[in-house]
Amino acid sequence: MNLAGKKILLGLTGGIACYKAAELARGLVKAGAGVQVVMTEASRHFITPVTMQALSGKPVYTDQWDSRISNNMAHIDLSREADLILIAPCSADFMRKLVHGAADDLLSTLCLARPSTVPLLVAPAMNVEMWENPATKRNADQLRADRVVLLGPASGDQACGDTGLGRMLEPDQLLEAVSAFFQPKRLAGRHVMITAGPTFEPIDPVRGITNLSSGKMGYAIARAAHAAGATVTLVSGPTALQTPLGVTRVPVTTAREMHEAVMSEITAYDLFIAVAAVADWRVASVSEQKIKKQAGQTPTLQFEQNPDILASVAALPSPPYCVGFAAESEDLLRQGAAKREKKGIPLLVGNIGHQTFGRDDNALVLFDEHGHQSLARASKETLAIRLIEEISRRLPAKT
Ligand code: CTP
Repeated sequence: MNLAGKKILLGLTGGIACYKAAELARGLVKAGAGVQVVMTEASRHFITPVTMQALSGKPVYTDQWDSRISNNMAHIDLSREADLILIAPCSADFMRKLVHGAADDLLSTLCLARPSTVPLLVAPAMNVEMWENPATKRNADQLRADRVVLLGPASGDQACGDTGLGRMLEPDQLLEAVSAFFQPKRLAGRHVMITAGPTFEPIDPVRGITNLSSGKMGYAIARAAHAAGATVTLVSGPTALQTPLGVTRVPVTTAREMHEAVMSEITAYDLFIAVAAVADWRVASVSEQKIKKQAGQTPTLQFEQNPDILASVAALPSPPYCVGFAAESEDLLRQGAAKREKKGIPLLVGNIGHQTFGRDDNALVLFDEHGHQSLARASKETLAIRLIEEISRRLPAKT
């Protein structure tokens, strides 16, 4: 994640989720952002300015009458200097204050005084009953209408013992949302479907055949497409990865399930990116019972061909723009060009080396009708952003 040169004003309001704001400040700084923390009085009951100063590397502002700013206008200076204001956690009461344009402490005043070019993102955090109260719902709707971006809340166990909506998003999800906010919206208005991860072909109820795909590249591309403004559906085989924020995930297990999930919806999409490592074959007759050991005998498996999802999509009468992936163990340049032709697709992305599975970095070669072009080794996150840039340049204009 790269937030180099970005200035983030991180506001903390009262709530137990303040402990997550410490991790968030650390993550923002690690990503290269300059972080200025402003804390309300209530937030200081949960975490101290000393902690936030140590993590952000800058003195924290807490007081509207802070004399450190020479013109005594902290609310003006701080909001003008920021590229983005993020309130995390944002309490129910602070939502109310934003709705009504309150200006009775430094944080609310600087939100009110921010220029219209400075985006305001808030991460609500509260008890489930507070979140579901009609008053809070009205405030949330009004904030959206005022073009404040609400991040979350998430659902789950709460500090008070309740379960439900109201938990603040995790620091890595908030980081992702901040980083996405700064990406150019090259895919605005586009619908993108991505396949990712491995498939699992059962042998019997407890065994199966799969591969080493972690899903990391496909998930990174889904995040990058969402950050570029697309509506993204991720048809995913079994992985341990978290669904990217704002992305619809359709979980599948076998290649046939993946084929069905893709084909039932794909006509509504502009772009199809097939990143999944789909099993070419499945076991012809899956045993209903667990296959038991029998002395002196080894089982023999018969296979059947699985459908080629990418080729099926590319063969549709008016297909979306199709992007395929290939991991070749030798002669990538020749094999990649040939595979693009064979699959009948405009763009094929080759992994350089076939040992990309599970790694956090990768290097790619893009094959299109003009030839090939390399994308240098980088993290899968960075490559995914580069790839989305390349794809959006090639994507035909919407008719
Ligand atoms: N793919 C697919 N459905 C399949 C197999 C592959 O959609 N049943 C997609 C993959 O997601 C990838 C591309 O096709 O985008 C290339 O897959 P690969 O297995 O390398 O291609 P194959 O045509 O099966 O060639 P090979 O003979 O090298 O296995």
